Amino acid sequence: MTNTQKQLEELQKEANICTQCSLCQDRNKVVFFDGSSTAPIFFIGEAPGKNEDEIGIPFIGRAGQLLRKFLFELGYTKDDFYIANTVKCRPPKNRKPALEEKNACKRFLDKQIELVNPKIIVLVGSTALESFISDKKLTITKARGKIFEINNRRYYPIFHPSYLLRYHSLEPGKPRYLFKEDLIKIKNLVNKY
Ligand code: URA
Repeated sequence: MTNTQKQLEELQKEANICTQCSLCQDRNKVVFFDGSSTAPIFFIGEAPGKNEDEIGIPFIGRAGQLLRKFLFELGYTKDDFYIANTVKCRPPKNRKPALEEKNACKRFLDKQIELVNPKIIVLVGSTALESFISDKKLTITKARGKIFEINNRRYYPIFHPSYLLRYHSLEPGKPRYLFKEDLIKIKNLVNKY
């Protein structure tokens, strides 16, 4: 095991017993990560849902399965990505995580990013976008498809796959088409950097 993996494991142990915000009260499992600790692409979603809370792995419910389907169809492998969320515990009734909850959890996410040290951070949906890019006027529709360089890190916002569950068309310009286009672009960017 590498030193980075050891440090990530230690961090996960800390998160598993975290009581820094009230989300700890109803959780079944702390949802820390999935993927590879040496991955060049770090996906950040919103928060664990019901399935994630039961199993302890991010993006395994309907939206997550859709994201994974797109990734694997486009040739991504499990070595290509590391996935986490803005908070590690499920908010009640799948509401959006509150700012205090995201802030309480941020030290874990920041440390994961530091240790994995990805080439690109993919902000999956508006909650992740708001956590990293502080421009209140920036919607996910405007931000997706663009690269934001902040403090020597590259961020690339994309739609959240739960949005795509409502839009099935793959026609040019439609959400699924743009989502696929973004994932292709991200993969190509990583080969360039
Ligand atoms: N599952 C996750 O882990 N995160 C999301 O944002 C949505 C589903």
